[in-house]
Amino acid sequence: MRLLHGGHVVTPAGVIEGGSVRIDGERIAEVGLLAPKEGEEILDCAGCWVLPGGVESHCHLDLEAGAELTADDFATGTRAALAGGTTTVLDFATQFHGQTLAHGFDRWMAKAEGKAVADFGFHMAMTEWKQDFAAQMGEMPGRGVTSFKLYMAYRHSMMVEDDDILAALTASAGFGGTIGFHCENGRLIDALVQRALAAGHTTPHFHAATRPAVLEAEAIDRLAVIAGLAEAPFYVVHLSSAPGLAAVARAREAGGAVVAETCPQYLLLDVAAYGGPDDDRLESRAVVMSPPLRTAADREALWAALAAGEVQFVGTDHCSFDLRGQKDKATDFAHTPNGAPGIELRMVLLWSEGVAAGRMDPVRYAQVTATNAARYFGLYPRKGALVAGADADVVVLDPGTRWTVTRAALHENVDHTPYEGREVTGRVREVFLRGHHAVVGGRLGDELPTGEYLHCGPPDLSIA
Ligand code: URP
Ligand code: ZN
Repeated sequence: MRLLHGGHVVTPAGVIEGGSVRIDGERIAEVGLLAPKEGEEILDCAGCWVLPGGVESHCHLDLEAGAELTADDFATGTRAALAGGTTTVLDFATQFHGQTLAHGFDRWMAKAEGKAVADFGFHMAMTEWKQDFAAQMGEMPGRGVTSFKLYMAYRHSMMVEDDDILAALTASAGFGGTIGFHCENGRLIDALVQRALAAGHTTPHFHAATRPAVLEAEAIDRLAVIAGLAEAPFYVVHLSSAPGLAAVARAREAGGAVVAETCPQYLLLDVAAYGGPDDDRLESRAVVMSPPLRTAADREALWAALAAGEVQFVGTDHCSFDLRGQKDKATDFAHTPNGAPGIELRMVLLWSEGVAAGRMDPVRYAQVTATNAARYFGLYPRKGALVAGADADVVVLDPGTRWTVTRAALHENVDHTPYEGREVTGRVREVFLRGHHAVVGGRLGDELPTGEYLHCGPPDLSIA
């Protein structure tokens, strides 16, 4: 038995000051004002916040994107996650063109099993729609997959049409699943991209210029209509903008069962990172991701919505490509591998810019970094909260340390971080995954646990 003793313990019922978490093997035995027991190992948590291990709702590990493979696989990506206080990751098992969903699932299981050092589960991403996918989707809950993903963007590769969306939503509603949507109008983006390229515009600036926020809002409005026809719940992945947020609010007002995920990059980073129309700095390619970075007004709207319960959880969309050897090979913005790293810093960035900066309290922090994703993806109460009987996934965060992010100090297997040089407040001091002490005094241990596959249950649609 081990006692994490005398910290600010964040539970679903509130903060227990001077509280403790007792760990027995892989589970939490007790949470409360607990006296040490004889023979038990005591870890002094005075002055620190004791939080549920993070639940990452959105990452892409070992993903093939055209000719490129993400720099992080399940070994390096989950190692980085664990170092940063994320104990559960939900990746996108992907069905590529011509494959069945079962084949996509089996491939992803082979990528993750035995390699992951954090616990993991899957959403099922479908890069096309075929009539028999409705039946195939219905078989996925038996494999522990209850959430799916469709792309409204990426025309000519992964984009699906509105009638396909209707069919998929009707299927998922039929067996009590949910679907996450990449909400951008792929046809109009394609038209704007072709126009920009024809005019000789190749720099990263035009990545953002050809994906305006109004096209995120339009996709969400359209999706809400389709979901209404299907009477199906859905969620918006990586919500990036104030217009998109307003569309989510409209969908909810119209009675839709919709929740939204945002990401640290849309809360912290600015569209100025792309540079001007003539800038072709390699660093600007680091933030070629979709949707693109937005403005200060978008960020403030997302922060306010996150605090107010209008955006429910924060994933990273970690999709790492090296600047040198991968992103630098592209001859224009439209062919630059899309995606950025972030899995290791999610918990600390949200603490620093969310809690330490006064935008949310620690209880809300626990909800948006762990509890809500665990509930929505059917992992609660095993994951996502400090409650008796749950897996002993615990983070001890020291709020007093101020430090500067450098890629060299991170565990992500990629040659850059978009947060390089950023000052942050708060440091992940200890991390436990199912009782295994993985981060000790701020250092990732040499012997890490083996990540377990998590069977997701039905989504809890009531999260806020
Ligand atoms: O740029 C991004 N987001 N790449 C990952 C794939 C996706 O759209 O989620
Ligand atoms: Zn993604």
